[in-house]
Amino acid sequence: MMRMVDLIEKKKQGEALATEEIQWMIAGYTKGEIPDYQMSAMCMAIYFQGMTMEETITLTMAMRDSGDVLDLSGIHGIKVDKHSTGGVGDKTTMALGPIVASLGIPVAKMSGRGLGHTGGTIDKLECFPGFTTAIPEHMFKQNVNDIGIAVAGQTANLAPADKKLYALRDTTACVNQKSLIASSIMSKKLASGSDAIVLDVKVGNGAFMESAEDAKALAQIMVDIGKGAGKQTHALITNMEQPLGYAVGNSVEVLEAIETLQGKGPADFLEVVFALGKHMILLAGKANTEAEAIAMMEESIQSGAALRKLREFVAAQGGDPRFVDDPSRLPLAKEVVDVLAPQDGYVSKLEARPIGHASMLLGGGRATKESEIDLSVGCVLHKKIGDAVKCGDSLCTIYARDKASAAAATKEVLGAYEFSNAPVAKPKMIFAELS
Ligand code: URA
Repeated sequence: MMRMVDLIEKKKQGEALATEEIQWMIAGYTKGEIPDYQMSAMCMAIYFQGMTMEETITLTMAMRDSGDVLDLSGIHGIKVDKHSTGGVGDKTTMALGPIVASLGIPVAKMSGRGLGHTGGTIDKLECFPGFTTAIPEHMFKQNVNDIGIAVAGQTANLAPADKKLYALRDTTACVNQKSLIASSIMSKKLASGSDAIVLDVKVGNGAFMESAEDAKALAQIMVDIGKGAGKQTHALITNMEQPLGYAVGNSVEVLEAIETLQGKGPADFLEVVFALGKHMILLAGKANTEAEAIAMMEESIQSGAALRKLREFVAAQGGDPRFVDDPSRLPLAKEVVDVLAPQDGYVSKLEARPIGHASMLLGGGRATKESEIDLSVGCVLHKKIGDAVKCGDSLCTIYARDKASAAAATKEVLGAYEFSNAPVAKPKMIFAELS
């Protein structure tokens, strides 16, 4: 008979777990037969000893099979999913989803909520009053067939092993381990039934992977898992050294996503949106070259097709589409404070993590999975790496519920910035691509 304590000991000694051992462990943990304390010891052993590629693939498949595996074959066309490993100011899905959907590519997406200093698409979409991602499977499929896009939350029975394990890892300092991240993300992607996957692996202090080497290694593991499961998988390594775009929060990010679809998007954000989008379009077989794919996305924005698609999408999931037409209706907290530059110079550093943390302190992020969040708070940056500043310029506008949280966030924001006297180059956004 297998005993969890023996498996923990085996991993602690640096040995590889056998396929049946991993399968037994995940099945037992999902059913509640293996307690959290033993699973957390196992996660910590994995954190220090790692897993082989074979173990990682077995773990992914066991987590995928711990619940339902969606069958999206009833949706016409090649379904391409996009997934980000998590970052600060990452409102990519809200802009990219409608763009690619407007080009006739079915977007059937499972998204998550924010956790810790990172934001989540579901919370942001809930800024549209009435909007829900808790839609039944038949409606999810129907919406994709009718309007080309639907976004749902991770249903209780999609990779439930990951749901339990992720919450456990989050509270036991075991999130940033490559095999655990790769299996967590890929188990959900493989269970949610798309035909091809584009991964946005973030690197930098606002991401779970802080070095480009680690991010590349993580991306390669995920690509190999995806391909091993018969799905075309493409990964981009993108910059999360500073927040993406200018807005960090919920309403403020929705506003920036809408502005992007109105043709007024920040350059760094658009670069990432287009880099991911071109691979979605190519994988879906809708363009032959990268240049053609980018021209299609530009046209979708210029013609207003992407914005109209966002409107349709919001309405189809119960949201008030008037907020797309007039985003000034989005809730913004009343206490407005500008963070001022303490000196002249050029911004040489703007760390993403403290900005994400500032948004959390304002009430815009979750300290625990159960926390209620305030959609109206957030930060809007005005100066990013490479920008020239004069002493007293506004670096960032903070939208807060009260003076105390505004003061705490101001401190975080100021601590995120560094300045230099010499000009600083704008950072590169896309570091590498793997497939
Ligand atoms: N996102 C996930 O879904 N899982 C992880 O482990 C990290 C980021």
